[in-house]
Amino acid sequence: MNKLSSFLIALLSCLCATAEVNYQVIPLPQSVLLDPSGKTAPLAKGMTVAYPSGNAQMKRNAEFAREYLGLNPRKQSKKQSAPFTLSLGLKSDNPDAYLITIGKKGVQIQGASESGVFYAIQTLRKSVMNEEGDTIRLPWGTIYGTPRFAYRGCMLDASRHFYSVKFVKKFIDVLALHGLNRFHWHLTDDQGWRYESRSLPELAPKGSWCPDLVTLDDDGLEPLPASQKTGYYYTREQLKDIVEYAAERYITIIPEVDLPGHMLAALSVYPELGCTGGPYETYPFLPFRGLEKDVLCAGNPKTLEFIKKTLNDLCEIFPSEYIHIGGDESPRDRWRECPKCQARMKELNLEKEAQLQTYLVKEIETFLTSKGRKLIGWDEILEGGLSEGATVMSWRGYAGGIEAARLHHDVIMSPTTHCYFDYYQLADRNAQPACEGGFISLSKAYSMEPIPQELTEEERDYIVGVQCNLWTHYADSPARAMYQLLPRLAAICEVQWMYPSQKDFSQFKGRLEKLEKIYRQLDYQFCPSFE
Ligand code: ACM
Ligand code: ZN
Repeated sequence: MNKLSSFLIALLSCLCATAEVNYQVIPLPQSVLLDPSGKTAPLAKGMTVAYPSGNAQMKRNAEFAREYLGLNPRKQSKKQSAPFTLSLGLKSDNPDAYLITIGKKGVQIQGASESGVFYAIQTLRKSVMNEEGDTIRLPWGTIYGTPRFAYRGCMLDASRHFYSVKFVKKFIDVLALHGLNRFHWHLTDDQGWRYESRSLPELAPKGSWCPDLVTLDDDGLEPLPASQKTGYYYTREQLKDIVEYAAERYITIIPEVDLPGHMLAALSVYPELGCTGGPYETYPFLPFRGLEKDVLCAGNPKTLEFIKKTLNDLCEIFPSEYIHIGGDESPRDRWRECPKCQARMKELNLEKEAQLQTYLVKEIETFLTSKGRKLIGWDEILEGGLSEGATVMSWRGYAGGIEAARLHHDVIMSPTTHCYFDYYQLADRNAQPACEGGFISLSKAYSMEPIPQELTEEERDYIVGVQCNLWTHYADSPARAMYQLLPRLAAICEVQWMYPSQKDFSQFKGRLEKLEKIYRQLDYQFCPSFE
């Protein structure tokens, strides 16, 4: 072989090795500018990543760079430069913004805060993850990312099916991979109470039991003897561990106690808190049942005591500013017939039962405010008049969100039209496991625009976030939960990060092929759909 051809072969293999590193990841950064020189910087296993000393989060970020990119962390030193550096100080109003500069000096990541640095590491991770070989060549250039919405959430329902700590951590990893920063955890419902309460020790052991208790055996949960009449729930230690795990990944967990409806699990333990006095029993998981008419009695003073105790227990574990109190789908039939509820309405001069729910919400808000927290509720909390500082999660379409924004309340958009991942995702129903109903394809999820046209400029600022929801009546295994989530989460994360002018579904599909290779590598089940 002459010199010229060996040079050409070397050049060609170099070009092949770099061909795929194009930074076209999901969510797509705001700008990717490649250097016209076509030069590249190496990214090799064991290469040093330097981080500023005295900042535990930056040290942790450097450890993520080790885990995801094979780098070797060390503290920054004036004497010694490093081929890969992490730093703060990027000027931006958005704490999640990041800038990656790849050039002569190697790879420099700068974040507006520690979370921005984390997102930059994730972007590089997704850029190189399918690459082979010990040294990867990164094209010179700059990559700038900054999310459109401050609140980028996903909900997991742990009542209809229970998932192990191991799976919940995997779920958090999945959210982090997609640049989400809020994990809304639905912890109580008619099928089971799922968190240990310090002040009411019998609540979780008894209230987690359900007549057709299923064990998700591929999730490593120990089977429970049916005779025991206790089900699965998270202990306080487990919850604290998960909160910390999420926080390291810049994810805040927002716990939800759904009230005053969806309360059979609690009523099964404390029947005196229901209007009729019971007895009550938790729902079986399947078949899917309609709305439960038995709810907390709003006329019984013990109800508010109970609520405050359970919320106080949550506040001890979860540092989140927001606490979710549900509020959805609470039929008022029992309240209409209950002497205690009617007497309370008379005493408060209320005309409609909906106002009784507002009364409860206002009392709870006062309590949460005294703890330095804020209240979020599903959009039904608008019905009897909105409590002063409440944030509204708009799920029955956009109307609740529009109404709340007009009242100058913060809104999270989470409509059933685009954000319900328990729905079918393929047009051919026989090509996927059974769901309760509904249909949201990947392209439908991608097409979501969270800010309604009819709002004024000022009102639009109240739409602070977007959230997708995974209700789990039918998600009877971790694999099934992942299948419902992916790849629609990839679509919603671009709604959360990108402006409409930047979004393009056909281009997204190209980038999704690369992400799906990563799902396979990480053993994340997904629905192979580009519909
Ligand atoms: C809901 O989907 N019931 C909030
Ligand atoms: Zn009552």
